[in-house]
This record gives sequence, C-alpha cells and structure tokens, in this order.
Amino acid sequence: MFIRHETIEKNAVLLLVFTLIVISIGGLVEIVPLYRIETTVEHVKGIRPYTPLESRGRDIYIREGCYACHSQQVRALRDEVERYGHYSLAAESMYDHPFQWGSKRTGPDLARVGGKYSNDWHYAHLIKPTSVVPESLMPSYGFLARNELDMTDLTRRLGAQRMVGVPYSDDQMANAVADARTQADPAADNAALLKRYPKAVTVAGNGRTVTELDALVAYLQVLGTMVDFADPANEKPRQ
Ligand code: HEC
Repeated sequence: MFIRHETIEKNAVLLLVFTLIVISIGGLVEIVPLYRIETTVEHVKGIRPYTPLESRGRDIYIREGCYACHSQQVRALRDEVERYGHYSLAAESMYDHPFQWGSKRTGPDLARVGGKYSNDWHYAHLIKPTSVVPESLMPSYGFLARNELDMTDLTRRLGAQRMVGVPYSDDQMANAVADARTQADPAADNAALLKRYPKAVTVAGNGRTVTELDALVAYLQVLGTMVDFADPANEKPRQ
C-alpha cells in the first residue's frame, strides 16, 4: 500500500491525475445539490410579492438606511417572541432582494410592526417621532411627505425583481402604477388591488400625489402580516 503510494508521490503526472479525481468528487458533492436548491425552499401560505407601493416603500427604507437602527428578524428566543410576536420564518423574506434582517437594534425590531399601529400613528411618527414617543431619539423623516414618489420606472423595478425570482404576474406588472395609486388613496376602489395582493393596507394619501411617505407607511404596514399564525398549519416546530 505505502509502496504504491510512493509511486504516486514520485510521479508528478500520476499525482496530478489522482489529485484531479479527488477534487472533482469533492466538487460534485458540493455542486450537484445546488441544482436542486428549490427543493429546500419552504413555502408558507400567505407569502406574496410586495405591492408596487410597498416595494417602493422598501426601496426608501433601504435608501434612508433605516436598517442601520432597525433589524427585521425575530429570533426564536423567548424574550424576543414575547416582545415582538412569532419568530421570523425564512419564507417571510423569500421575496426580499436583498433581505433586511439587519444586525443593529438602536430602535426595536420591525419584522412584525405591520398592523401594530394605525396609519396615522406612522405618519405622525415618521414626520416627528417625539410627537408620539416623547423620549424617542429616532430622526425625523418629514421631508418624505414632501417628496412625490417617482413612479416612472415602477414597472421596470418590478421587472428587475421578477428577473431574480419574485413571481410578479403579467397582470401585476401591467397594473403596477394603477395599483400604487389605489393603495395610496383611501377613496379609491381597492377590490382589484386586493385580488392581486391580498391584505394590502390602503394608506392615508391625499388622492392627488403619491408621496414617498405613503410608500414607506404601506411597506411598514405589511411587515410580518402575510402569514396567518392563527392557522395551525403555519405553526412550524422550532428549529
Ligand atoms: C438613529 C436610529 C434610527 C433610525 C435611523 C431610524 N429609527 Fe426608527 N426608531 C428608532 C428608535 C430609537 C425607536 C424607538 C422610539 C420610537 O418609537 O420612536 C424607533 C422606532 C421606530 C418604529 C416604531 C417601532 C415600534 O414597534 O414601536 C418604527 C415603525 C420605525 N422606527 C421606523 C423607522 C423607519 C421606517 C426608519 C427609516 C426611514 C427609521 N425608523 C430610522 C431609531 C431609529
């Protein structure tokens, strides 16, 4: 055995051939399962792509660096679950490109902030945090209320998301701008919007111009609300 091994070690070509064989076995073991990666993705009922308005709100969340003070991941630890609600499921960020789990909590975790407060609370809080939380040290984002939301490239933005795997349908793409306007206007008929995006929360826009603040509030209001945890089918065992 050792004598044969010596033959291999003394012959550069033979050593190279055997090295390549060993590396390719290792490589195959690592690479082949990746072609079946979709089998490892867990699907959970209720998870849908963001509405066009929520998706733009998410862009603003990233642009303004909200993640520098807020995480979006409730860990499976008792104190976290008691404070924020059900721990985050991987599926809840499956359409997030990139995900916003974050690593810094100067402010509270936002993974389940949707529905915790009214739209009015969010508008007041983002315009002047101390108006609703007197001891708050969060910066004011009042300027977002004065910035009209740029929707010129809305459909292309959804197209880019679709390219990386978010399943926006042709119907959703074609109605992107109309859906964004509807979601920002409390007076608009939102039946078609709700059909395309169940549970979409209409925010308190003025019905004329859609602002960046409207988009951000729509995004905050959907966070953590897509999965119905009252449904026992969605209770996942702790990992
Ligand atoms: C400098 C750090 C900082 C930044 C940046 C920041 N926040 Fe906050 N945020 C806080 C702190 C601290 C609190 C807790 C006090 C309060 O409610 O105002 C908070 C609270 C919140 C809450 C209420 C959470 C709850 O469960 O009560 C929301 C919603 C929120 N922030 C959204 C945002 C958004 C959206 C942005 C980006 C536009 C942002 N924050 C940027 C520090 C920050």
